Amino acid sequence: MSQHTVLEQVDTEWWKEAVVYQIYPRSFNDSDSDGIGDIPGITDKVTYLDKLGVDVIWLCPVYDSPNADNGYDIRNYRAIMNEFGTMADWETLLAELHTRDMRLIMDLVINHTSKEHEWFQRSRQRDGKYEDYYYWRDGAPDNPPNNWNSIFGGPAWTYDEKRGQWYLHLFDENQPDLNWRNPDVREDIKEMVTWWLEKGIDGFRMDAINFISKTEGLPDGDPDRTLVGVEHYSHGPHIHTYLQEVYDDTLADYDVMTVGEMGETSIDQTAEYLVEGGGGLDMAFQFNHLTVDEGPEGQWTLDGWGKWDLSEFKAIMTRCQNELAGEWWDAVFLGNHDLPRILSRFGDDEGYHRESAKLIATFLLTLRGTPYIYQGDEIGMTNAEFVSLDEIDDPMTTGIVEMLLAEGRIESYEEAADLVNYRSRDHSRTPMQWSSETNAGFTDSEPWLKLNRNYTSINVESAIDDTDSIWQYYKELIDLRHAEDVLVYGEYNLLLPNDEQIYAYRRTLGDETILVVLNWSDKPTTFDCPSINTANAKVLITNYESTSTNPKRHEFRPYEATVYRL
Ligand code: GLC
Repeated sequence: MSQHTVLEQVDTEWWKEAVVYQIYPRSFNDSDSDGIGDIPGITDKVTYLDKLGVDVIWLCPVYDSPNADNGYDIRNYRAIMNEFGTMADWETLLAELHTRDMRLIMDLVINHTSKEHEWFQRSRQRDGKYEDYYYWRDGAPDNPPNNWNSIFGGPAWTYDEKRGQWYLHLFDENQPDLNWRNPDVREDIKEMVTWWLEKGIDGFRMDAINFISKTEGLPDGDPDRTLVGVEHYSHGPHIHTYLQEVYDDTLADYDVMTVGEMGETSIDQTAEYLVEGGGGLDMAFQFNHLTVDEGPEGQWTLDGWGKWDLSEFKAIMTRCQNELAGEWWDAVFLGNHDLPRILSRFGDDEGYHRESAKLIATFLLTLRGTPYIYQGDEIGMTNAEFVSLDEIDDPMTTGIVEMLLAEGRIESYEEAADLVNYRSRDHSRTPMQWSSETNAGFTDSEPWLKLNRNYTSINVESAIDDTDSIWQYYKELIDLRHAEDVLVYGEYNLLLPNDEQIYAYRRTLGDETILVVLNWSDKPTTFDCPSINTANAKVLITNYESTSTNPKRHEFRPYEATVYRL
């Protein structure tokens, strides 16, 4: 059967064929010299994005916000943050993207609002229907209603003097959780979702979406868990009903894509969101594959982090490929604005900067599922170095370090500095490196967050001039994915599950087979796989000079990545 005939039998969708590029607006490009990225700055770079070849832009929050959590604390869902520009600027960006056949998805933050949102302001005054818009509980000011922890460190409750009650916040105290049990809350959210859909956007990335339903009565959590209470709010009792309601009443009428962020969910649980009736999500960001390098107490464990086994990573990825992307569909990603730089985490950003960045790119763009590229990864941006807590903006990093200090687990920032320099969310938030000029061409004034010092060598300008750059390689891979239906719709089969250096897989669609061989290590090795015939293999793309077309007769150099047609 030809690929064409096979394609008639699969469920094709534009968002399955798309490559998504994530923009963190604050750090992308500053057009008005205030040190903060903005929407006109993004519009100025639309030709850049078009040249790279990406299809969809995911814009992190640009709504009006006091910025306790860089826009994830929304004050007004229907207005644009002053620092980022105006609604007219946003409309221009959308039009510019659409003119070039690119699409735009918005971040949808509906687990919580800002404390400054009108709903919360009215709720704390018990104003009419707003009284129960959030989770309010009685209790003495020194005794929170339950033992849940905030994901950003400390208790998940803050006492509000004005109302004389506690309110729940799974994240920062400035981000109170909305009470989804209240049908008025759901109605207001659906109205807002439709308002944005009517503006012509192409979908949503749904923030913390598996947290919106909490166990009735908000009981105490298991005190032995790292994140106390999580079993009562992740994947809660009405989660699918709520999502399905939002879907049926809003999204179902539009040709849009949705991707849900699902921290703390297992692969099995994630599948439940992708099935019919599970809530209408097209794909999910689940994080099981990103736990491999964590210490015993999760991502903020002081010791024992940073090492990972390729075989374990392959086993988890393969479950995601088969049980999520294979059965339904899924998002493929290794990094985002909450995670360290992928190259510093999964590659070798010193010894094999270029090679390992290209290997990771090959991986992301040849799997089944929609690939997400985070800004700057296409030029191999790396983790920065934060020498003191003053250099950090991220409320998660500061909250956790303060908690460690308060609990006496560290005595000074220095004791946590290595962990912070591995893990902090600010690594992915340092400004985009456009050129080797002052402030990396990001801004004419002082940037809001310090730049990574390596911008003089790692930047867009030099990457575009260099025919062998990481950037050129991303572009070629994106073109390849667009040209090869097998890379989008083909089945995924893992080879050599126990090999600790080689990650190899086949993608198959009809009679087309593509073989991907990645030497995910800094030592040479061979591809010892008797089960497949590689005699007629043809190299489609490789990150080294190609020396042999037959992978079985070839020594794979450190971080070599080669894609073959069999
Ligand atoms: C999500 C976002 C993160 C934010 C949090 C609270 O995890 O990706 O950046 O801090 O939700 O909105």
